[in-house]
Amino acid sequence: MQIDSSLLIPDPVPDHPLLRGRKEIGRGENTIVLDGDVVDGQERVFKVLSSPTDYAYYTAPDRPTGSHFPVVFADHGTAGRSSRGFPFHIVEVEKLYPLPGGCDAAEVATKISTSYFEACQAWRNLAQDMGRIALHHLVVSPMGWSDALRQSLKALEEFSTEYGALPDLIKADNLMMRKDGTLVFSDPVFME
Ligand SMILES: Nc1ncnc2c1ncn2[C@@H]1O[C@H](COP(=O)(O)OP(=O)(O)O)[C@@H](O)[C@H]1O
Ligand SMILES: [Mg+2]
Repeated sequence: MQIDSSLLIPDPVPDHPLLRGRKEIGRGENTIVLDGDVVDGQERVFKVLSSPTDYAYYTAPDRPTGSHFPVVFADHGTAGRSSRGFPFHIVEVEKLYPLPGGCDAAEVATKISTSYFEACQAWRNLAQDMGRIALHHLVVSPMGWSDALRQSLKALEEFSTEYGALPDLIKADNLMMRKDGTLVFSDPVFME
């Protein structure tokens, strides 16, 4: 997918002992991702988060968990302030991978994105509530999701409502996968 680089957060990696010398492997509108260590065979990354909603998604006690949600290893506190106007938070998370075209997880991801987009079109007159209603539609309509996936969509809907977050299920790179092929909601919400 083409990414408009003017939308990417322009900040340098904040200076912090945990981040020094690490390779940047991803960048989005609000987040910088640096390669981490391999611990007990598990690859990790450091996500440097500037969005309070993303920080809550990764660290809140009632954050959604289960096989379709990223595993979080540690919350390493803050590192300065971002140009977005919020503190940077460093969170250590399992390393995930882009969905290769044609795999099962990619097919499910495409179905989530297109169904979500269509539901947004159907409810676009609801403006601010459109995304959450569209997500609710994905939860309650029979669309052939596995039980685990439907439960995960429901957990995302609950998180969005609880934290005033808006679902962001259209951008392809917000859904990623584990090496074993499991679809993971890497960055499914944004700030209202
Ligand atoms: N856990 C991860 N492991 C590896 N790369 C990641 C991980 N999370 C995100 N990325 C990469 O970093 C990019 C930005 O991360 P993302 O969480 O989508 O940030 P933003 O909130 O700025 O959109 C993603 O598009 C992806 O390429
Ligand atoms: Mg993103």
